Amino acid sequence: MLFPQLALLLSLVLGSLLYLLTHTVHLDRLQSVCPVESRPHHARDPVQFPFRPPQYKRGLRQDLRRGNTSKGQLIQQLPHAIIIGVRKGGTRALLEMLNLHPAMVKASQEVHFFDNDQNYGRGVAWYRRRMPFSLPGQITIEKSPAYFVTEKVPERIFRMNSSTKLLVIVREPATRAISDYTQVLEGKERKNKTYHSFEALAINPSTQEVNTKYKAVRTSIYAKHLEHWLEFFPVQQFHVVDGDRLISDPLPELRLAEQFLNLPPGISRDNLYFNSTRGFYCLRFSRRFSKCLAGSKGRMHPDVDLAVLDKLRHFYHPFNQKFFQMTGRKFDWP
Ligand code: A3P
Repeated sequence: MLFPQLALLLSLVLGSLLYLLTHTVHLDRLQSVCPVESRPHHARDPVQFPFRPPQYKRGLRQDLRRGNTSKGQLIQQLPHAIIIGVRKGGTRALLEMLNLHPAMVKASQEVHFFDNDQNYGRGVAWYRRRMPFSLPGQITIEKSPAYFVTEKVPERIFRMNSSTKLLVIVREPATRAISDYTQVLEGKERKNKTYHSFEALAINPSTQEVNTKYKAVRTSIYAKHLEHWLEFFPVQQFHVVDGDRLISDPLPELRLAEQFLNLPPGISRDNLYFNSTRGFYCLRFSRRFSKCLAGSKGRMHPDVDLAVLDKLRHFYHPFNQKFFQMTGRKFDWP
């Protein structure tokens, strides 16, 4: 007699566990709800989209359940656009902010399809299955920052789809290198391991020159990496995002990215608000639902010897000039 009640109870517990599990995975990189700060409201963009507004995008599956969307409409599309890097440039912020656009759908996890031989060996069908469900006409986007610096990647993306749009977000190179170092340092500290100082890694002790063998230093030589990409793709297929401006004033950067993706403006000022506790812009999906990026984004950087910083900036200068020339976008870097 007790069996049906017991079975019902068990299925309820299991259902709740499953719900928690799927939602934790979905929001892995995002902190849970942050306090919404009062900001003046601006008029909404007049553009009408055939897609549902962002607060409902997470709920495509809910829509399915409710019968608002027919199952046949939802598809997993290969990405039309990829954020190829640069690591610590603000790739997560860019992905999450672009995903506010009703016509954009993001792959939440870094897929590492093109840079990881094992994943690549699984084939394009495997890659497609890692993509989110979307409606035909929506743009799928993924980000894997390792793509920018991995030799094999440009050719592999070209072979999949030679018209893939490529976004690369950059920050002042020395700051980016320190951010990269800070991430590794935090990992070491979490495991109670000691680690070298940034200065010891960035400067070769015997020559006192910048140590180009140090990966965090090399990654910031943007021109060198881009040169390799340009062997496969025309420069028009890239869009360079100013990662420093995405921190201080994201909307103009998002407008430029929308233009590059041939999208009408779909992200409004209401979708972003400055959270003074975090010191960063956070995302607002609706009146009740807003999120900041996880605490691993926006770490405190260690103080770096000014002479070392100077040396690094001097080192990057000619590469930066070349990068500006190649991309046609100039930044306010030393
Ligand atoms: P720091 O941790 O050095 O401040 P990525 O996502 O590519 O790993 O980049 C991380 C960087 O994104 C952070 O570097 C942070 O400065 C930057 N960022 C840009 N916009 C942000 C935002 N709205 N919230 C948090 N971090 C942001």
